[in-house]
Amino acid sequence: MNETPSNNNLSSRRDFLKTAGYFTAASALAGVTLPQVHAAENNTLQIALVGCGGRGTGAAANALDVKNKGPITLAAMADVFDKRLSSSYQNIKEKHGDAVDVPKDKRFIGFDAYKHAMDSLKPGDIVILTTPLAFRWVHFTYAIQKGLNVFMEKPLTADGPTSRRMLKLADEANSRNLKVGVGLMSRHSRPMQQLHERIQGGEIGDILLMRGYRCHGPVASMASVAKPEGISELAYQIQRFHSFLWASGGCYSDFYIHHIDHLCWMKNGWPVKASALGGRHYKKDPEGRDYIDQNFDTYAVEYTFADGSKFLFEGRCINGCEAIYHSMVHGTKGSAVVSASGDCSPPSSTWKTQSPDRNPKSPNRIWTSTTPPGQGDPYLNEWNDLVDAIRNDKPYSEVKRGVEASLVTSMGRMAAHTGREITFDQILNSEVELAPDVDKLVDLNSPAPVKADANGKYPVPQPGIVTDREYKS
Ligand SMILES: NC(=O)c1ccc[n+]([C@@H]2O[C@H](COP(=O)([O-])OP(=O)(O)OC[C@H]3O[C@@H](n4cnc5c(N)ncnc54)[C@H](O)[C@@H]3O)[C@@H](O)[C@H]2O)c1
Repeated sequence: MNETPSNNNLSSRRDFLKTAGYFTAASALAGVTLPQVHAAENNTLQIALVGCGGRGTGAAANALDVKNKGPITLAAMADVFDKRLSSSYQNIKEKHGDAVDVPKDKRFIGFDAYKHAMDSLKPGDIVILTTPLAFRWVHFTYAIQKGLNVFMEKPLTADGPTSRRMLKLADEANSRNLKVGVGLMSRHSRPMQQLHERIQGGEIGDILLMRGYRCHGPVASMASVAKPEGISELAYQIQRFHSFLWASGGCYSDFYIHHIDHLCWMKNGWPVKASALGGRHYKKDPEGRDYIDQNFDTYAVEYTFADGSKFLFEGRCINGCEAIYHSMVHGTKGSAVVSASGDCSPPSSTWKTQSPDRNPKSPNRIWTSTTPPGQGDPYLNEWNDLVDAIRNDKPYSEVKRGVEASLVTSMGRMAAHTGREITFDQILNSEVELAPDVDKLVDLNSPAPVKADANGKYPVPQPGIVTDREYKS
């Protein structure tokens, strides 16, 4: 998790400014202007929230809930929709009162709002990046220029070119001693951390097979009908970002990355290739309107690791089918329940057999996780860990790992969408960028990265027909 070498003992902003290397690091970012030095004596960490939706609002609240944190305030907010920002502001203000100090002139709207929000911070402050993933590299680039620590949500990328870009940015952030957390919260689940140690210690032997299941109805914006009148194409695609591969990597990337990330963590490696099945069984919604989004409603992916062991992932978004939502590891000496339900819910447990029965008194049960008091929420844990790293200058960069998890996720998605085996090297080195000009969007009437046909339908994957990319535009 921690890839940054530690060389400083920073405990205050003043020390940070003197010693963090921020002013001495040679900039690898073209045209960077180093910001003004603010020799602030106070130790307040200010936060800007970029992307004030559900998760952004939650992440900002988590930041203000951090324990033993010293003073932290939410100081600026940015979104492309006024309404999203206003409701987020109300929500956080109600719960956190004075810790929310975002006057109207620190609430920014538009595609350049992120710049204004970050401009209002000082080096060493924190920016939260919780827009759909398409904007992640754009916003992360600017955060590094401004010398900001970052918390950004998963997934980080949906294609090869932006992954390579983000890996370079990760190095740049490390060279400036910036701390960067990524919202793959399983890594901060205390039960999963305990399980990881046990698996590394050999409790269930060598891993042969892992399984992840996320099967439920069509949630969030993964299934869409044609754009209604009165909203621009770009606004529609951003609002319904799970429906569009450029914006989110689709439901496969957005929903399934958690299991993919934590299972690969248990294995201590990333798979080298994926092959997959998938399709859209239902073409119309219950009211008979055509679905126009780019997702399949069913995915079954077989990942293979370098040692030949396998990881099977199944994802389904269809109502009325069996709901299955958990993850498992099978080893030569036993098995483990990783997430008992959902993306990351305890207890984790280990078993002498290959079929855990979930009976607390089962003689086959080896171990069941416990959660230390006050550490039951991995979303809060990830903030406690990040702020601790910032306050005490501990190495902290989750970006490389977050990009790799995003790539493995995209590898499985692309295997399903093309009907071809996809290797890790192929997805990493792919030249197909899904939204190449996302940094050039001016306003909500700017051209959208994917175009609908005359029936309002967007290009969908055609396995076996379109095989060098995920869809033909
Ligand atoms: N770790 C988790 O468990 C978890 C849970 C939910 C969401 N997420 C992630 O968080 C991200 C956001 O998801 P969400 O559910 O909060 O979506 P959301 O639609 O509720 O929020 C996204 C916000 O970003 C704004 N936005 C879009 N483009 C923008 C831009 N260019 N500049 C500024 N603002 C912009 C939108 O208007 C919206 O308010 C996604 O990447 C998602 O995968 C993670």
